[in-house]
Amino acid sequence: MAQIRFLVFLMIILCFEYVDCIRDMAEMYEKYQKMFHSHDPVDYHVHHHNHHNHHKHPHKYHHSNYTYDNQEEWCTLPQDTECCGTHQSPVRLDSFIKPVPMKPFEFINYKMLPWNVEIANNGRTVSVFFNNVNAQVKGGGLKHTYNLYSLIFHWGSEHVVNKVRAPLELQLIHYNSKFSDVHSAVESGEPDALAIIAVFYWLGRDAPEAVHTITSELTKVWYKNKMDYIPPFNLRELLPQSTTHFYRYNGSMTTPNCNEVVVWTVFKDPNFISLIQLKKFYAVKTVTKRPAYGPDSNMNLLHNYRKTQELYNRTVVLGEVTVSKFTDTEIPAVTVEEVKTSEEIETS
Ligand SMILES: *[C@@H]1O[C@H](CO)[C@@H](O)[C@H](O)[C@H]1NC(C)=O
Ligand SMILES: *[C@@H]1O[C@H](CO)[C@@H](O)[C@H](O)[C@H]1NC(C)=O
Ligand SMILES: *[C@@H]1O[C@H](CO)[C@@H](O)[C@H](O)[C@H]1NC(C)=O
Repeated sequence: MAQIRFLVFLMIILCFEYVDCIRDMAEMYEKYQKMFHSHDPVDYHVHHHNHHNHHKHPHKYHHSNYTYDNQEEWCTLPQDTECCGTHQSPVRLDSFIKPVPMKPFEFINYKMLPWNVEIANNGRTVSVFFNNVNAQVKGGGLKHTYNLYSLIFHWGSEHVVNKVRAPLELQLIHYNSKFSDVHSAVESGEPDALAIIAVFYWLGRDAPEAVHTITSELTKVWYKNKMDYIPPFNLRELLPQSTTHFYRYNGSMTTPNCNEVVVWTVFKDPNFISLIQLKKFYAVKTVTKRPAYGPDSNMNLLHNYRKTQELYNRTVVLGEVTVSKFTDTEIPAVTVEEVKTSEEIETS
């Protein structure tokens, strides 16, 4: 909480000359309150807030009770799930299909450094949230413009290509920009309410700086239910060098309630992570604290991926675009240097 108070204080200083900024500050504070008061902040985007049931069984919507060991039971969880539907994710992909030309992707504000980035461990994955980055994606065969909401990591990968599972898959969760937030997007039940972009990470020496920024901060969220702040990084670096080929299909969220509201984009080319960095993910814990006796190495979070699901009547398309466009439409609200300067102001 001290950090929040500090951030609000920081914003007051920075807001000095901008009235609009005061409103942003209020919004941001509200968001924090929500996050810190929900039981499972990392998961709140996957809850199906069916209002009728919500009132009947309020507690059931705030205690996700699934594990990667009981995947078969996901569709019989107390809350309504779509986990046994016919448009589920992840799926097996096959690279030997004919590419279909599509309009280029446009990634907006992906190069802008978001200065206020949070990382969290919910015992099943590690997620990253942004509070002031207006990053969007459109094109690439998507029918709408989508806002970036969060990043989720799975080690190993959820999607499997030619029967091979990558060591890591990063999922960039976006929601249709016509919705006010990710919850209303999921609640809408629209089959393309969310656009998730997945990136495979293979072992390699030239991992981008952005990956280093994230993995070197993982110890802050070693244990379940930990949340913390991490330094800004360049989102573009998290995507593969080449974004010209990608798998496209209609699917679902890969955790309960498995809502079938997702247009998937899985880039064919991978990005890279070093073994040392990957091991930092393997060391993340499923428990809230170190046990009283013995080592906690058997509480490491491993294999946090969902098994591949049947395609049924769906088809997977291999999209092909020319070079993707990366445009920054906004001057960052605050630059890293400015944040440093106001820290100095505070301490002086
Ligand atoms: C969660 O699931 C476990 C095992 O399936 C069960 O023992 C436990 O009672 C459940 N907890 C809640 C809150 O439903
Ligand atoms: C996904 O669903 C939409 C609408 O139902 C359809 O137009 C589109 O072709 C589907 N995408 C793929 C890759 O099958
Ligand atoms: C697949 O499509 C056929 C024909 O449209 C339909 O009869 C069948 O129920 C569909 N199967 C699934 C699993 O959706």
